Amino acid sequence: MPVPHPTSPAEVAAALAEVGYLADEGLAAAVFLAVRLRRPLFLEGEPGVGKTALAEALARVLGASLIRLQCYAGIDASQALYDWNFPRQLLRLRALGEAADAEAAAAATASLYTREFLVARPVLQALENAPAVLLVDEIDRADDEFEAFLLEVLESYAVSIPELGTIRAAVPPLVVLTSNRSREVHDALKRRCLYHWIAHPDVTRETEILRRRLAGLDARLAADIAAAMARLRRADLVKPPGIAESLDLARAALELGESRLSPTLAEAALGTVAKHHEDRATVRRELARPAPPDGRAGSGGTTVGTPAAGRDAATGTPA
Ligand SMILES: Nc1ncnc2c1ncn2[C@@H]1O[C@H](COP(=O)(O)OP(=O)(O)O)[C@@H](O)[C@H]1O
Ligand SMILES: [Mg+2]
Repeated sequence: MPVPHPTSPAEVAAALAEVGYLADEGLAAAVFLAVRLRRPLFLEGEPGVGKTALAEALARVLGASLIRLQCYAGIDASQALYDWNFPRQLLRLRALGEAADAEAAAAATASLYTREFLVARPVLQALENAPAVLLVDEIDRADDEFEAFLLEVLESYAVSIPELGTIRAAVPPLVVLTSNRSREVHDALKRRCLYHWIAHPDVTRETEILRRRLAGLDARLAADIAAAMARLRRADLVKPPGIAESLDLARAALELGESRLSPTLAEAALGTVAKHHEDRATVRRELARPAPPDGRAGSGGTTVGTPAAGRDAATGTPA
């Protein structure tokens, strides 16, 4: 059930949890304020901590459509905003044939720059389709000019197209920007936004995320995976694992019918966590570490390896 107008951070957290995203208090508060104050939300953090997933979950919570703009080196305004449908314009031009006189030629040209031939890219789509969550993903990959362009859009929520005029959002989209911090994003852009740093989850929350997302995952295995991930993040790896890696490891364990961390699991599922050759030995060691025999994580959730176990509990899609 969408909650378009949440009234407290707790309500935001509960609604996010309902769609499978577990936010801590700080994040829930930042999201709540971004929604209430209608300010863009700037999320920074290591890869795999749940920045993109937050925007997706938030769109579902708000009952808004998610419009995603993936940034990359060299992205420019025409990829973000709009473009003219050149092949279609050409076809129309051919159909119009040779114009009889200058006046007819000018009219023919003008007719090529109408809404019909405009291709709306994500930013324009978000301005035109309320309610929307506009995800500007991995802004740190784009360059300075693109940041400046975005800042302009975020200040006016309007776009002017020389041939058509200004298109203004009736209801501004909620904008979520993410950065993996491969470089610093300019202060001007951050100042326009509410800023929140997403840290890796603690062991308790990561355990919850695993159990929440993977129905049938053994509770103790979930806790052991979360603990191993925490150790690995302190272990100075080339690529420390994110939540995506712990989910992959857990899914692998389910598929392999393994219900404990063990040398067998470590060997078979090494590639779900170690993404660099240099990290393999450390990852293998931590994943093979047998869990302490006290059974401290409880004994709930024992169905392992059943067909349903590999399904994503939150979304119902196969893992
Ligand atoms: N708080 C969370 N609750 C539930 N799932 C999460 C959470 N954080 C991350 N995930 C899951 O972890 C994976 C990686 O998250 P993602 O959003 O892609 O990370 P990022 O964009 O920060 O690199 C996704 O499958 C996502 O659904
Ligand atoms: Mg991401």
